[in-house]
Amino acid sequence: GAPVTVDISALQDGQRLIVEWRGQPIWIVRRSKAILEALPTLDAQLRDPNSENADQQPAYIREQSPQLRSLKPEISVLVGLCTHLGCSPEMVAEIRPAPFDPEWKGGYFCPCHKSKFDMAGRVYQGVPAPTNLVVPPHHFADDNTVVIG
Ligand code: FES
Repeated sequence: GAPVTVDISALQDGQRLIVEWRGQPIWIVRRSKAILEALPTLDAQLRDPNSENADQQPAYIREQSPQLRSLKPEISVLVGLCTHLGCSPEMVAEIRPAPFDPEWKGGYFCPCHKSKFDMAGRVYQGVPAPTNLVVPPHHFADDNTVVIG
C-alpha cells in the first residue's frame, strides 16, 4: 500500500489519532511529560524493555530510542493490534489507579485476555501477549506531518 500522510497539528497531550495503513489501525499518540517520565521506571516489569526483538520495530526506531520507541519523544506511532491474538487494546493514558492495576502508569490494556502494554507499546511480563506492539515504518515530513509507510 501507499504511504499515509497524517497532520498531527491538532493532537493534544494524551490524545490518539487512528488512521488505516495496509488494512491495519495505526495509532498516533501525543505523550505527556508525565508519561515520558514514567516510562523508564517501568523497565523491570517489562518483557523486552529495550526493544531487542527486531521484528517489532524498524532498526532506525530502536537506534533512536529503544525505550520510548519513537523518533520524537512525545509522538508514539504503533500498530493498534494486540500481539497475542490481534484484538484492539484500549488506551488509558492517564497516570492513575486503573481497575485492573492500582500501579498503572498509563498504557494499553487488551480486554480479550488482559495483556498490558506501556505508553511505548512495551509488553508487561506475565501476560499472554508475547511481544511489544509493532512500531510501523514512519518518518516526519515536517514537525506536524507524519508519513506512515
Ligand atoms: Fe490481546 Fe489476547 S488478544 S490479550
